[in-house]
Amino acid sequence: MALRRGEIGIYALIAVVVTGFGIYNFIELQLHPLSEDPGVPFYSTASHEVERAATDIIHRENCRDCHTLWAVRNVMQAVPSPPLDGMGSLHSEQWLYDYFSASDPQSIVPSRLKPKYRMKSYAGLPAHQRRLLAQYIASLKVKDWYLQEVKKTEYEKLTGHSMVDMGKPSSR
Ligand code: HEC
Repeated sequence: MALRRGEIGIYALIAVVVTGFGIYNFIELQLHPLSEDPGVPFYSTASHEVERAATDIIHRENCRDCHTLWAVRNVMQAVPSPPLDGMGSLHSEQWLYDYFSASDPQSIVPSRLKPKYRMKSYAGLPAHQRRLLAQYIASLKVKDWYLQEVKKTEYEKLTGHSMVDMGKPSSR
């Protein structure tokens, strides 16, 4: 059965839209490759001295084999570990120091990964290097507006209410 003119028009329109969308996506990907995901917005409050000394240790110990830091990590490794970006909003310096000093880090943060992918113990490092690491990682703070956004979204998901309603005097 032959297509009616109206039907041909509709199919032509769909074809144009679908092709157009494909081309648009292709261009979009060239301009903004997926690997450029900006991740969590964060900043560091550390001094240059602390940053430089800690970065040396981070390079030497290959933390980036497993962790993203400043949105950079070793792409040859695919360990599913948490990014260090913004970690200072999650843990205090003391917590980090104790974690790096633990002979069994999995007694603090349990792991379901294969042993070779798990967080290593840095108990063997000199105390001042563990302190530097803790100080620097603790200085990586998630930007305030982002934390607020996350809290707001979580609140709305959990309660079904907008956070804007909070603190308003009740109508009763
Ligand atoms: C072999 C991979 C590997 C290396 C190397 C490694 N980590 Fe980890 N790290 C992990 C994994 C995986 C976790 C999550 C806990 C686990 O599975 O043991 C983790 C957890 C952490 C945490 C706690 C995150 C949380 O969930 O609270 C911090 C902080 C951390 N690592 C910092 C570092 C630093 C700093 C270095 C370098 C000195 C480093 N890691 C090196 C794999 C690694």
